[in-house]
Amino acid sequence: MCTTMKKRLDCNSLNPGAASAVSDEGLNDSNRCQTVGEPLLENPRISCREIDVFYGKKQAINSVSLDIGHNEVIAMIGPSGCGKSTFLRCINRMNDTIDSCRVSGSILLDGQDINRPDLDVVLLRARVGMVFQKPNPFPKSIRENVAYGPKIHGLARNKAELEEIVTTSLQRAGLWDEVKDRLDEPGTGLSGGQQQRLCIARTIAVSPEVILMDEPCSALDPIATAKIEDLITELRDKFTIIIVTHSMQQASRISQRTAYFHLGDLVEVSSTSQLFTNPKHKLTEDYITGRFG
Ligand SMILES: Nc1ncnc2c1ncn2[C@@H]1O[C@H](COP(=O)(O)OP(=O)(O)O)[C@@H](O)[C@H]1O
Ligand SMILES: [Mg+2]
Repeated sequence: MCTTMKKRLDCNSLNPGAASAVSDEGLNDSNRCQTVGEPLLENPRISCREIDVFYGKKQAINSVSLDIGHNEVIAMIGPSGCGKSTFLRCINRMNDTIDSCRVSGSILLDGQDINRPDLDVVLLRARVGMVFQKPNPFPKSIRENVAYGPKIHGLARNKAELEEIVTTSLQRAGLWDEVKDRLDEPGTGLSGGQQQRLCIARTIAVSPEVILMDEPCSALDPIATAKIEDLITELRDKFTIIIVTHSMQQASRISQRTAYFHLGDLVEVSSTSQLFTNPKHKLTEDYITGRFG
């Protein structure tokens, strides 16, 4: 059975209440699965509507609409290739850097359209910071890694203010005590877990509103992972955090809402406890019980 046909059956016969209108003529309509749960919020920080993403002719995201709240950690889960990273990259326009990639739909950050042509993308990426799967410190000192962003964005009026930002960011990232005596040593000399916290310090140094994290712990051991998870929980008081994770346990520990993606569709968004204990959609249930993925 072709993927489209399979999806159509999954989305419509197994959970008729959740199905979107299916047209027999158009593959476009039949290719869509309406999100169940609570994808929309009152007073969101980020508001995504009908996001489609194509790589060349291949559609990777199908009409996804999702709001993300203030001071929320939202986890994105789903099998490999379902579009989690692609969707995440829409929110700071990182897909702009991929030639074949086309994004449509609207994304508002604090009510402002992030896709408008006159928007400064460098500024957007400071407001919406990103932490990647593999820690990627610059080949510079620990201090320079954190000071770089504030310097290029002119966030400090003098050296003392810059030093203050470096210190506070490293403290907030839970790394200060481990590095305060060696700020001039290379960032790349730290352990994997320390490097990831350094990347988080670098991200928060420019005072973002939102932090995107794409499987930030998948290269880390359990102890380093636990530190990052504690950090995410602390950072929520100041930032909105969107985290892609392969670990359902991790999503349960750190997020308030969870979004389940499947073949480019946003199938379900619910409070994390609800999604894992009482999923509304059969596809979500199959995934969390290990029958799929
Ligand atoms: N740079 C790219 N060029 C072409 N296709 C891509 C690219 N990145 C991702 N894709 C495709 O888009 C789909 C979604 O991928 P991705 O967003 O990486 O999924 P996930 O993060 O859930 O594993 C997959 O089919 C993948 O092969
Ligand atoms: Mg990915």
